[in-house]
Amino acid sequence: MKLSKTTAQNSFRYSWLMSRLFPYIKPVLGRIILGILVAIPVGLLDGVVAFALKPYMDYVVGQHDWVFTIMGHEVIIPYLALSAAIPFAVVLFASVQGLFKYLNSYLTAWTSQKMTNFVKIGLFEKLISMDPKFFDENPSGIIISRYLNDPETASKGLVDKCKNMVMSLVGALGLIGVMLYSSWKLAIVGVVVLCVAFVPVALIRKRIKKASNENMVVLGDMTTNFNETYSGNKVVTAYCLQKRQHDLFVHQVNESFNITMSLTKRSAWMSPLMYFIASIGIAIVLFYGTSLILTGEMTAGSFASFVTSLLLLYKPIKTLGGTLTTIQTLFVALGRVFELFDIEAAIRNCENPKTLKDLNNSIKFTNVSFSYNEEKEVLHNINLEVQKGETIAIVGNSGGGKSTLVNLIPRFYDVNEGTIAIDGVDIREISLESLRKNIAMVFQDNFLFTGTIRENIMMGNPDATEEELWQAVESAHLEEMLAELPDGIDTVLGERGTTLSGGQRQRVAIARAMVRKSPIVILDEATSALDNKSEAVVQKALDNLIQNKTVFVIAHRLSTIQNAHRIAVINEGHLVELGTHDELMSIENGQYKMLYDMQFKTQTVGV
Ligand SMILES: Nc1ncnc2c1ncn2[C@@H]1O[C@H](COP(=O)(O)OP(=O)(O)OP(=O)(O)O)[C@@H](O)[C@H]1O
Ligand SMILES: [Mg+2]
Repeated sequence: MKLSKTTAQNSFRYSWLMSRLFPYIKPVLGRIILGILVAIPVGLLDGVVAFALKPYMDYVVGQHDWVFTIMGHEVIIPYLALSAAIPFAVVLFASVQGLFKYLNSYLTAWTSQKMTNFVKIGLFEKLISMDPKFFDENPSGIIISRYLNDPETASKGLVDKCKNMVMSLVGALGLIGVMLYSSWKLAIVGVVVLCVAFVPVALIRKRIKKASNENMVVLGDMTTNFNETYSGNKVVTAYCLQKRQHDLFVHQVNESFNITMSLTKRSAWMSPLMYFIASIGIAIVLFYGTSLILTGEMTAGSFASFVTSLLLLYKPIKTLGGTLTTIQTLFVALGRVFELFDIEAAIRNCENPKTLKDLNNSIKFTNVSFSYNEEKEVLHNINLEVQKGETIAIVGNSGGGKSTLVNLIPRFYDVNEGTIAIDGVDIREISLESLRKNIAMVFQDNFLFTGTIRENIMMGNPDATEEELWQAVESAHLEEMLAELPDGIDTVLGERGTTLSGGQRQRVAIARAMVRKSPIVILDEATSALDNKSEAVVQKALDNLIQNKTVFVIAHRLSTIQNAHRIAVINEGHLVELGTHDELMSIENGQYKMLYDMQFKTQTVGV
């Protein structure tokens, strides 16, 4: 499944998205609610200040005592007492608000980070369950954007924006409450204008979705560029590709700029438009309010409270508008995130898979055909049975399908037609874990991880004992090399093991395969990258590895081929010849004989 082309169909299904997100919200729900609760008084402060203006104007400025009745008793509060109490109350409220603000920030950060982590971990689990085809199709940058950045944007932003929304909403409601209290007639005018001001928000969400998806793809390309510049730094230097990489990057940066600007151009009018509509509202209120005061329907204090509330309403409304816009972006990212959760790996266990304990009889390919994509079939109708303990060499033209053939055994890919069976059991009925446990692979380009040599070898079998580890080190002819390293087996390797030579890396990989102690060994051109001297050492290591194993070896070297029990010749995806060296050499105009005459004869035999 190619990720960059997905368009996040579900971005606007808000309730569906929230229900998908809920399992990740649930563990932190209590704290989210607490965070929102403490956001309420924070949002209310503006309303309180505006509210306090009315008694202040009417009683203190107007020099009237405040008279009201509680349960039949008349209470009189002198205006001088009010003049001291009101400012004091405002300060008190502000300090409480400060405390809540702190609590709110802490809780928001905690919950959003936790939620993001849950989602990221879930996605990472999904990612590592994907099969090689998925990684063939999707560049690293897209993977990083979608598996790492999107959950961050989505779940972290969501909590943050929800907090802002609650705070602004409560603030706005508080202020509207004060307005209603001051004069409901004026308040109706205000609220109607407010509703009109929100219409534009609904209009731009499609544009936001499009721009957000486009931008994700460009950001992914940028990350891929970084990764390639990093991993390919030698090729970049050797072929002076700096300008190419530079131009590519500049192009990507500009593209991202254009997408952002085009979105801004189309959406930035929203905020001024909202302001404009609101200002019309204020103008109407001022006219209408003056007439209400003149007719005596409203006190000056109420009017002051009202106008202050209306002016203060600007801020929460603006935040609300902005938040609603960004929340759209978050939902688009969230849509993309849950799309990933729904991708199923093509290669997975069948129901009630069998466990493969050991290889007892044979590995059998029956009428196997395979293609990576619809365009062309790579393997055609292969029939091949390899007995336990047999070493089979696979030779043939480059691009003929040798690597493909052996990659089918651990189910990196599934056959399109036919079956591969181990001891008569279709490998699709065997659990992936047990199947792969029985296979040790050494590739041409062996990937080592950042970490020590010991850790890298132990990855072959975490349960290997110290003795087994050193046995593998010895068999892989690593001892001499380790003796020269300052920290020996505990030397930390650079990323991908770049601090070792090609031959050294291969021997570490051979040791890794050795500790695995698996009955099936697959060697894909394990020695082709080496010069004769290092090959001799690696070859010895390999000879140790394949003793008493069932071995598939893709070979370009005569020595390996001659030592094999049988040779399979794969040409253009067809198994054209199968037999011992002598048998195949006796075929007149045979493919193997031709290959031998062209490639192998010139090599020195018997290293
Ligand atoms: N991941 C892939 N996706 C699509 N096509 C692929 C993939 N890997 C290999 N192919 C194609 O499949 C064909 C067989 O490739 P394969 O790697 O099996 O050849 P090979 O016999 O191992 O060649 P070589 O000796 O050069 O390693 C080639 O045409 C190649 O282009
Ligand atoms: Mg190959």
